[in-house]
Amino acid sequence: MTELAPVTQAALKARLPDAQTVTAVTHWTDRLFSFRVTRPASLRFRSGEFVMIGLPGDNGKPILRAYSIASPSWDEELEFYSIKVPDGPLTSRLQHIQPGDEIILRPKPVGTLVHDALLPGNRIWFLATGTGIAPFASLMRDPETYEKYDQVIMMHTCRKVAELAYGRALVESLADDPLIGEMVAGKLLYYPTTTREDSPRMGRITDNLTSGKVFADLDLPPMDAAHDRAMVCGSLAFNIDVKAVLEGFGLREGANSEPQEYVVEKAFVGDGI
Ligand code: FAD
Ligand code: A2P
Repeated sequence: MTELAPVTQAALKARLPDAQTVTAVTHWTDRLFSFRVTRPASLRFRSGEFVMIGLPGDNGKPILRAYSIASPSWDEELEFYSIKVPDGPLTSRLQHIQPGDEIILRPKPVGTLVHDALLPGNRIWFLATGTGIAPFASLMRDPETYEKYDQVIMMHTCRKVAELAYGRALVESLADDPLIGEMVAGKLLYYPTTTREDSPRMGRITDNLTSGKVFADLDLPPMDAAHDRAMVCGSLAFNIDVKAVLEGFGLREGANSEPQEYVVEKAFVGDGI
């Protein structure tokens, strides 16, 4: 009679390649949560990039989706900020993960929301709707952001106040951050707005830029191509409309291969797009 080999950790990893362990989960609303996982020792990434993460599917094929890494490149763990799509193949299950569970993480970071894709400037604008704040959660915690720019403006717009909570908590935590607290002080300007529930600041990012309201509120000059840089992350419709606004201020779209004044990434791929 042959004895079965004991199930070793290595064998488990072989069954779930690229497995990482969940270390923390926070639910912000019934549609939004964030979680942290262990970081593969070999993973190097630039703040603002995304990776593919997922869970094993029923047929043994993994269900993988693109996710912005929300933690900065220096963090020893990885953080993600996620939507919960009720019938979504991945997030209908991912929303139930708990510390100790494993997820799949393909360690191949890519993306355009990186400092290298922009020409040097004085002010950088992070423009996000919904979960599009995730790459900026990384960039707002990266010392390079404050080394490169005199002012960092985080505009985040959601329909409702509760949907701003993750970004607000993150911004508020920066002041006490031992690594970058001092760098952030006085440089980071946070401009959260809602569009379908009353809050101290209201309105779409596009409207607040074109009307000049955000410049007046923050006591900043209007955007210009000589001084201002921007990174954009939201729905396809948002990205298209913001691009038109930025082009109106004279900014041009850049890429890793050809740095210019602004860069864009989709926060998700919409139905039928
Ligand atoms: P899917 O079948 O993938 O999506 C179903 C539908 O849900 C979509 O058609 C769309 O209408 C809607 N939807 C999907 N994602 C979102 C979203 N984030 N916000 C609002 N509506 C959405 N998602 C995150 O939650 N966090 C991220 O950091 C993130 N980064 C991404 C980066 C890139 C470059 C891309 C292309 C997508 C990113 N996404 C992110 C979206 C993500 O890849 C998945 O679509 C999402 O996790 C839902 O997966 P699902 O399988 O449950 O549903
Ligand atoms: P609004 O409530 O006026 O549509 P969504 O949940 O639909 O992705 O929207 C997230 C946020 O982005 C909402 O505050 C929404 O405003 C805003 N938004 C959606 N589409 C655009 C767009 N094309 N231009 C500017 N803001 C947009």
